Amino acid sequence: MDNTDFATHQIHGGSLERKNFRPLVTPIYQSSTFYFDTVEQGAALFSGDEDGYFYTRIDNPNQRELASRLAELEGGEAGLVFASGMGAISSMFWSLLSSGDHVIADKTLYGCTHELLNEGFPRFNIDVDFADLSNVVNLEKLLRPETKIVYTETPANPNLKILDIEQLAAAAHNYKPDIKLAVDNTFATPYLQQPLALGADIVIHSVTKYLNGHGDVVAGAVVSDSETIELIAANGLRYFTGSVLGPFECFLVSRGLKTLDLRMEKHCANAQEIAEFLEQDKRVKKVYYPGLDSHPAYELAKKQMKLPGAMISFELDGDKGYCALFANACKLCRRAVSLGDAETLIQHPASMTHNTYSPEALADADISENLLRLSVGLESASDIISDLKQALDSCDR
Ligand SMILES: Cc1ncc(COP(=O)(O)O)c(C=O)c1O
Repeated sequence: MDNTDFATHQIHGGSLERKNFRPLVTPIYQSSTFYFDTVEQGAALFSGDEDGYFYTRIDNPNQRELASRLAELEGGEAGLVFASGMGAISSMFWSLLSSGDHVIADKTLYGCTHELLNEGFPRFNIDVDFADLSNVVNLEKLLRPETKIVYTETPANPNLKILDIEQLAAAAHNYKPDIKLAVDNTFATPYLQQPLALGADIVIHSVTKYLNGHGDVVAGAVVSDSETIELIAANGLRYFTGSVLGPFECFLVSRGLKTLDLRMEKHCANAQEIAEFLEQDKRVKKVYYPGLDSHPAYELAKKQMKLPGAMISFELDGDKGYCALFANACKLCRRAVSLGDAETLIQHPASMTHNTYSPEALADADISENLLRLSVGLESASDIISDLKQALDSCDR
């Protein structure tokens, strides 16, 4: 290096040898590319004959570590992380589907997932049927030789509908063993529910939510068997979507994950108290929370979930304008979409997260105009209840 110019020194000078510093926490490998000792080594890495890293869209130590932690928590063989939940969902679908294939989905889904299936896929000659999959007979009626994927959320966004994962997996696999049952486990997290152990084939996450838990990252994940994950990595992520999660975001999620169980316990304890408060208030017409025995799938939720989660939806005894008046009067609960953060968030699905649904599709999916969705945070439950109460009182005046 001694005889080189300033410009070369400023790039190569003084580099520390990359030795093992033994950090407790995995450092951020903020590098888009990785050098090869020889051209032959580069070729071996590209062909897969040697394991290692060469380009962060393909693989990176932070991505690999986070994906394997998520796979372990979900009880899957392998995982992959993405730049968003939608990146995970679209990469999974584009990897597994071809023109002429058929998908069956529950009719209650996150708005953008619904839009991808309802508007996006028909443009590529992929046929999608939506049905109420809380009755397994509705799935059995729609299964056909071209069916490749059955797609579900449970608990579903936004109305907390619960589906019987074991029953749906059995029905799909009895019809054809290679049909994939995919479950979006965002609302539950692997701490509360493990779809693979119940017979599902693929688990999807918006990691943006509870897994990260601090409202400062957008990320997604897929967990499945190694063969499926290899396929999604090799084409869905690599060139269909390129929806790659940055090393810094991986680092933040890895940090958030360390407290997942503690956060979920507190989120759920808060939610139970708040749901009970809402249910006894006459001004609240209906509360959707799987931890209330008024929920139609209360027993099923108890069977397949450790705790009922921390998402609550409720209808007020008033129209859409009354709901807006109420939500605008909240002081502690923030008016915001997303969920799973330390802060309690309130939103109006029909005009926000589910505004991609037509009015008919909203009605068909039981998402009413006066439904509000609450993501219960980690504040004190009594303070959240006081806020909701003062907002209800203020609407009475
Ligand atoms: C259940 C569910 N799945 C998927 C997504 C999409 O995730 P992202 O916003 O990280 O793309 C969301 C977003 O709100 C969601 O609620």
